[in-house]
Amino acid sequence: MVDFALSKQEQKIFDTAMEFSKKYIVPYARELEEADEFPWKLAQLAFDAGLMNSHVPTKYSGPGHSMVDETLIGEAFGYGDGGVATTFMANNLALTPLLITATPEQMEKYIKPFATGKEPQFAAFCLTEREAGSDAAAVKTLATKDGDEWVINGRKCFSTNGHIAKFLTVFTTVDPTKGYKGMALHLVDKELPGIEVTMLEDKLGQRASFQAEIEFKDVRIPDDCLFGEVGKGFKYAMQTLDRTRAGIAALGVGIAQRAVHEAAIFANHRRQFGKPIGAYQGISFMLADMESRAMHARWATRYSAWLVDQGQRNTKESSCAKFFATDAAMQNTLDCIQIMGGYGYAKEYPAEQMMRGAKLTQIYEGTNQIQRLVAGQAILKETQVTELDTGFRLSYSGKDYPDPWGPREGKVPDFWSKSKSKK
Ligand code: CAA
Repeated sequence: MVDFALSKQEQKIFDTAMEFSKKYIVPYARELEEADEFPWKLAQLAFDAGLMNSHVPTKYSGPGHSMVDETLIGEAFGYGDGGVATTFMANNLALTPLLITATPEQMEKYIKPFATGKEPQFAAFCLTEREAGSDAAAVKTLATKDGDEWVINGRKCFSTNGHIAKFLTVFTTVDPTKGYKGMALHLVDKELPGIEVTMLEDKLGQRASFQAEIEFKDVRIPDDCLFGEVGKGFKYAMQTLDRTRAGIAALGVGIAQRAVHEAAIFANHRRQFGKPIGAYQGISFMLADMESRAMHARWATRYSAWLVDQGQRNTKESSCAKFFATDAAMQNTLDCIQIMGGYGYAKEYPAEQMMRGAKLTQIYEGTNQIQRLVAGQAILKETQVTELDTGFRLSYSGKDYPDPWGPREGKVPDFWSKSKSKK
């Protein structure tokens, strides 16, 4: 039986995260955005509430949350503010490739302290380079083996929390001529000599999250900072993004849902021509479309996360959820501003900040064009058409479908010969 209800435990996680968001993020979102400083106090509260480092297993003192749990937390954080949500969820992004690859010794030494410390500890995901954005396999940050150490040289950019992180999760190459087959994954302690951090100073929205450019000049790290196998770094990056794109989708759901609520409150109270503006179909139809987008985005998101929890690959589903949910967030926040008119455009209300925050969700962790590319390629791969003497066999996602053009005589489908004879 299909069951759309959250379990008791999932509901508790969602309620805790939503309560946190309503208490600590929503009322201070403008302040946090304008403060231009890392929200340490808030991070401490989120850490104490068990809302950070979701996937660190309970065996290593972490919350041991599932992927579905992460989408519940992501939705609640996104409801509060896109920037704050990104700041906290970036730790999941940075820790996921490590969790995929770590040996028990690496888990004890490097991952466990994220859960056992008294204060929140941050890691930053370093994949993107100036010349390797959508083309993630083009990384040039070089890792060279020297005795029992690795030496790292290169430059990463757009690394969320790169400035305050304790560790950097760095996708390197041992040989740039090998393309993705030369890539590796290294963990770099940011306090090591040879690391220089430059902040990305200003941006349109999500200003409570911070991105940095990080330069590595002959940075020496011990051998046990290689995670997984040399040559598999690209695969680890893709497996990570399969998971974390569901998290970004969840963030989009939160923004999209908040936009519905803000618009509905306004539409109920704002009176024009003697009635609340929500009484006009022009507005209520917009609200219905907005709610529908948020609702569809939520189920696509949870489904893509649920697949991970079932141990199934979710590449196509997480890409679809990511672009659908974040496009929904963008459209809903634009519609929210439109419904609120001049008030929506004014900084006195949250709508314009939500809209600026939504824009980034369509860009990071793979632009929505890249998501469509990933999904489109997966669909074509899953579809096979075999020509038989009696017609065609159509197979989609491993299951046979009826021949859409048969039964018929000869090899030419009826509709094809008819449309040809019309000419
Ligand atoms: N899981 C496992 N393996 C995968 C995979 C996946 N999801 N996707 C690809 N692979 C494997 C393929 O099977 C292939 O291996 P084989 O040759 O052994 O079969 C190999 O990886 C290469 O695959 P492709 O040929 O498909 O790779 P590509 O070079 O064409 O790239 C891409 C594909 C989807 C465009 C990828 O480069 C991509 O996702 N780009 C976007 C990068 C991105 O999202 N960056 C965001 C950075 S993080 C950020 O923004 C956060 C922040 O803090 C600001």
